[in-house]
Amino acid sequence: MTRRSTITGVGKYVPPKVLTNYDLEDMVDTSHEWIVQRTGIEKRHIAADDTPCSELAIKAARQALDDAELKAKELDLILVATVTPDMFFPATACLLQEKLGADKAAGFDLEAGCSGFVYALSVADQYISAGTYDNILVVGSETLSKIVDWEDRSTCVLFGDGAGAAVLQPSQRGGILATELGSDGSGAESLYLPGGGSLNPSSEKTLANKLHYLKMEGNQVFRFAVKIMGEASLEVLKKANLTPEDVDFFVPHQANTRIIKAAAKRLDLAEDNMIVNLPEYGNTSSASVPIALEEAVAEGRIQEGDILVLVAFGAGLTWSAAVMEWHKGGK
Ligand code: ACO
Repeated sequence: MTRRSTITGVGKYVPPKVLTNYDLEDMVDTSHEWIVQRTGIEKRHIAADDTPCSELAIKAARQALDDAELKAKELDLILVATVTPDMFFPATACLLQEKLGADKAAGFDLEAGCSGFVYALSVADQYISAGTYDNILVVGSETLSKIVDWEDRSTCVLFGDGAGAAVLQPSQRGGILATELGSDGSGAESLYLPGGGSLNPSSEKTLANKLHYLKMEGNQVFRFAVKIMGEASLEVLKKANLTPEDVDFFVPHQANTRIIKAAAKRLDLAEDNMIVNLPEYGNTSSASVPIALEEAVAEGRIQEGDILVLVAFGAGLTWSAAVMEWHKGGK
């Protein structure tokens, strides 16, 4: 019988500072009404200037380890999904390994835009299914506020900071039933950060041209997102021999309530089946799915035995989906 993995612990952390839509009205030419109507976002949490990605990650990670009743020293692998690592290198996962005291864990970062957490979950699932590792920490952590152009109203209203984490262990019942990943690099320039890499190394010119900030063609990403959220969900369900009617909850990437509603419509799902916390946090990229998952579990909405679909899209362009039978204590 194939060895399955299951999530045995979840955690989340968002920085205390809150930036409301009303605050943004004083910064750029926008309004609370526009942002709510077009995106569903009401506020977002913003990391302090001296708080890097790893600081958010460690708090979410510790909660997930406590929830799983697992010691950091027992971890075999740490995966961090992020587009805002502390540094280009070393990997934020290695900084986390040291801060946690996870002496025997390997660690690496994974970059798949907002799809990153579910990508990392699927990698962790493979290691556990293959019997290579038993205890894996998967974290999605972002400080998008540090790469957003706060003078660009078309992007700065969308994003927030935060971290979510999950511990994966072998499962006796339920757990991850199937995963689905994809990419389409022809859409790379729909959402990208052009400066600072080997294509445009940092220089006075890249700074002057604001190439160190995130750029996005919102309409292109929107069209892609509406299509792919439904398609990826159907594909992953097919792999698990399930249909949308079998699903108790969808935990979608939190980018825009209109995208989530369109996906629900395509799947013929009631909106009650969608976990949505976008009004509070905005788009926290790879942290959005694990933060939403942690909250739905903490609120008691997700119960043992529920069928969940986690689904995300993001820069790359990329997409990722996982279907699981929720048995947190299924180890
Ligand atoms: N406040 C007021 N007006 C604004 C703002 C703002 N913050 N931003 C744009 N506008 C204006 C535009 O300038 C435009 O004005 P114009 O008609 O005079 O030219 C008008 O509003 C409409 O702009 P659109 O871009 O057509 O608005 P749209 O309804 O498409 O909403 C949005 C824009 C919210 C960005 C939407 O396209 C979207 O959500 N796209 C998906 C983005 C996304 O999910 N990105 C994350 C991907 S995941 C990752 O990897 C990070």
